Amino acid sequence: MVGGAVCGYRHALMAHRIAVIGGDGIGPEVTVEAVKVVRAAGVDIDTEDFDLGGGRYLHDGEILSDSTLDELRHFDAILLGAVGTPGVPPGVIERGLLLKMRFSLDLYINQRPFSGTAPGKSESHEFIVIRENTEGSYAGEGGVLRKGTPFEVATQGSVNTRMGVERAIRYAFELAASRPRKHLTLVHKTNVLTFAGDLWERTFNEVRTEYPQIATAYNHVDAACIYFVQDPQRYDVVVTDNLFGDILTDLGGAVSGGIGLASSANLNPARTGPSMFEPVHGSAPDIVGTGKANPTAAILSAALMLDFLGESAAADRIRSAASVPTSGTTTEIADQIAARL
Ligand code: IPM
Ligand code: MN
Repeated sequence: MVGGAVCGYRHALMAHRIAVIGGDGIGPEVTVEAVKVVRAAGVDIDTEDFDLGGGRYLHDGEILSDSTLDELRHFDAILLGAVGTPGVPPGVIERGLLLKMRFSLDLYINQRPFSGTAPGKSESHEFIVIRENTEGSYAGEGGVLRKGTPFEVATQGSVNTRMGVERAIRYAFELAASRPRKHLTLVHKTNVLTFAGDLWERTFNEVRTEYPQIATAYNHVDAACIYFVQDPQRYDVVVTDNLFGDILTDLGGAVSGGIGLASSANLNPARTGPSMFEPVHGSAPDIVGTGKANPTAAILSAALMLDFLGESAAADRIRSAASVPTSGTTTEIADQIAARL
């Protein structure tokens, strides 16, 4: 049988092929548990481990070669723990591995769901941030002149294309349309970033005419920081650019039970290659091997992966099992979640 000829029935017949990049620090500890929980939910996955990250880089210099990237393209999804090791200069692994995957695999949506009750609030919130994931300040435009001299100049541009902005905004409208509240907030800084902000705002207003059923709002990013803390219930779906989304989603995690619970999906909705799923937290080298790492964010990221692979029922079961407060070591927490499945 030719692979792909039966694609409509594919997951009934074959295991999902998952590339696992444990990465550095607590990354491998939490991905092992996430894989365990996915299997406990009854989903058939074939995993292959890829030794990538700061540790590998220090060992033999590989960050993410084009041939490794080509191998990754053949998987149904990538599950990533965390990358970053002391001793590797900032940016090397972030740009060379994480951003290279986001850009090369065209993972143009970074979807981060948040739910919980913010500190000091009595009402709970539930919202999703859609972060544009391939452009903005992350595109790497800029450079440095006369480095190390008193006349040094550093520029760091923000790249915003109509295509990139529009596809993120369209995705967010579609997501909002699928949810009961049908509400979408654009977050930017149109009062200062007048070039990029104008492109975002015009595109948002144009696409909005195709979704009359969606109520919309606009917040400047600084105001959104206040609302995330003081009134997060106002949000349903939020769409924003790459850097604002990076910062806001840490804040989203902080008001939703902590970054140890924050999950994320780096999606290629066009499905021209695998999507990548990772907890928002970092490699936390200070707690490696102590059993203190909370695997919940990795487990919830694996649930997002299952949603994208057409296994939403199992994903929902995992989310509900993970929503019961759990304590203990990394393995104990995962075992308790697995036992509830
Ligand atoms: C995240 C992380 C990354 C980002 C870093 C590690 C490059 O903070 O996924 O939010 O800035 O996107
Ligand atoms: Mn971040």
